[in-house]
Amino acid sequence: MLDKARFALSASARSDVAPFIVMDVMAAAARIEARGGRVVHMEVGQPAAPAPKTARAAARAALDRADIGYTQALGIPQLRARIARHYGDAYGVAVEPERVVVTTGSSAGFILAFLSLFEPGDRVAVASPGYPPYRHILTALGCEPVPIEISAATNWSITVEALNAAHREKPLKGVLVASPANPTGTMMRGEALAALMTAAEAQGIRFISDEIYHGLDYAFPAATAAQFSDHALIINSFSKYFCMTGWRVGWMVVPDALLRAVERLQQNLSISVPTLSQIAAAAAFDGRDEMEAVKHGYEENRRIVVEGLPRVGLAKFLPVDGAFYLYADVSHFSRDSLDFAKRMLEEAGVAATPGIDFDPVHGREFVRFSYAGSAADMREAVERIGNWLAKA
Ligand SMILES: Cc1ncc(COP(=O)(O)O)c(C=O)c1O
Repeated sequence: MLDKARFALSASARSDVAPFIVMDVMAAAARIEARGGRVVHMEVGQPAAPAPKTARAAARAALDRADIGYTQALGIPQLRARIARHYGDAYGVAVEPERVVVTTGSSAGFILAFLSLFEPGDRVAVASPGYPPYRHILTALGCEPVPIEISAATNWSITVEALNAAHREKPLKGVLVASPANPTGTMMRGEALAALMTAAEAQGIRFISDEIYHGLDYAFPAATAAQFSDHALIINSFSKYFCMTGWRVGWMVVPDALLRAVERLQQNLSISVPTLSQIAAAAAFDGRDEMEAVKHGYEENRRIVVEGLPRVGLAKFLPVDGAFYLYADVSHFSRDSLDFAKRMLEEAGVAATPGIDFDPVHGREFVRFSYAGSAADMREAVERIGNWLAKA
């Protein structure tokens, strides 16, 4: 008989990462819907539209051929070449296909990036508010996320001064930025991105650019880190612009010196990325017209919320530059965004994400609205929020 106490399993300390609160909001919304209630969903950062028709047709044809085996660890050559060509088409910058690595969504890209760039204990700067998995993946890998507060005064991005100050306090090994960003929906100008990259490189701080929301830029065209340096590691995905969240396919542009390390990691961690998804992704680039129409839909949604929310009492929000997020200051109604979001869901039937998911300090005063749904949903949400706030 085994000694039960000796073999009782306890989770490792490194797996003790915070949950994603948005999942709790989704569960609460699902309970309301199960009772027959109506919920307008603005909590999830997911396009309502499906993958482009070209991608779905390519996947269907591949299924009929039934030759879905492993691929090369770094991805199928046609897809890597097609992604490399995209950098020429979209930004006028040359990227060699050899530097493109296909990943299982950008989420797996972070694991490959952090493992290939950092040692346990390394400090990596991230923006606060920011996308929670940056912090949580770094923590699980034994690295130390270093939140750098961003605000209107810093143009809602990490500045050279803030990076230098954090580095002086205790040396940083890396910095990760996103533009357009989640949850803020704000963007960095090309000059600001270039200046930050130069400052980081000068001090040996490795630079990671999360470009997952590229293509969804409304205020001005997004700049890629590839325009400014071959030493930055770029992360991107088919999830957002190409509406392919569930296909789990993304990519990285990797500095030459890291390529073999990334290849060895990918071979061992996942062998290769799902083949059907890679085939679909290569064809997605031929569906740009369809995706541009989806983007125009977001632009209309953005207009509805940017014009509508101030009319109903939510007048303070960050610049709505890109992605499909509006990050609203709700401090004049509540300093407990979790409670605010709960009540808005239960009483107004509008689901949104409390800011504490993204920023444990100031996030108590913010709520993130995703405007990736339909225009009719956006109008209904504004009206529901207005009626609710008027009563409150
Ligand atoms: C900023 C940011 N990066 C990365 C991801 C991960 O996306 P995926 O793994 O689907 O590519 C998300 C998802 O919401 C995100 O908002």
